[in-house]
Amino acid sequence: MHIAKGCIDEIYLDGRRAARLTCPPALVPAPGQYLLAHAAADPASPLANPIFAAGICPGGFYAAPPLPDNWLPGTELTLRGPRGHGFSLPAAARFVALAAFGGTCARLLALLEPALAQKAAVVLLTDDPPDGLPSAVEISPLSALPETASWADYLAIDIPRAAIPDIQKPAQQLSHIGYAQVLIETPIPCGGIGECSLCAVSLRKGYRLACQDGPVFDLKAILG
Ligand code: FES
Repeated sequence: MHIAKGCIDEIYLDGRRAARLTCPPALVPAPGQYLLAHAAADPASPLANPIFAAGICPGGFYAAPPLPDNWLPGTELTLRGPRGHGFSLPAAARFVALAAFGGTCARLLALLEPALAQKAAVVLLTDDPPDGLPSAVEISPLSALPETASWADYLAIDIPRAAIPDIQKPAQQLSHIGYAQVLIETPIPCGGIGECSLCAVSLRKGYRLACQDGPVFDLKAILG
């Protein structure tokens, strides 16, 4: 794990990203991993915030929403990470499906560049697509997940912990997919040191901590 300073350079309101951050290359989180970020000049927020990438950019990365409202251009951050297990896009994947069940698809968008770079066809399943996505990305509603899964050889899902039961039934229909992973969104109040258990996720073989064992898990691990 690395610790270094970073800085908010620009804020966006486009739904695809929340901010552009500059930071040392070693701090840039891989898709699905997170950094713990703390603004020293922010007494209202004594705890570090987990931040995920929505894509990379020269000198840093685009942060996925949400971020604290009072983080503005010029806000200096202390960054720790990257932490957690992220997505593992198979190099051979040519048909990639990304399904966003939470309030944002931004964390999944970090997979766009690597998927398109390996010439994969990409469909984004969301009921609230942001503007400005690459034209190569096909957009479908979440209800199209079962049909989409029939051609995908890799599926990445982003879902709040409370909504996991919503995907367990459709997920049973996806058992033929070559590889599927799920980013489970939980609070990470103790900063990923594994002491509070408030990020615990109930999986097929018992409870796991999203902050340490995830936040990305194999879909098979969450099927009941
Ligand atoms: S965030 Fe506290 S145990 Fe995971």
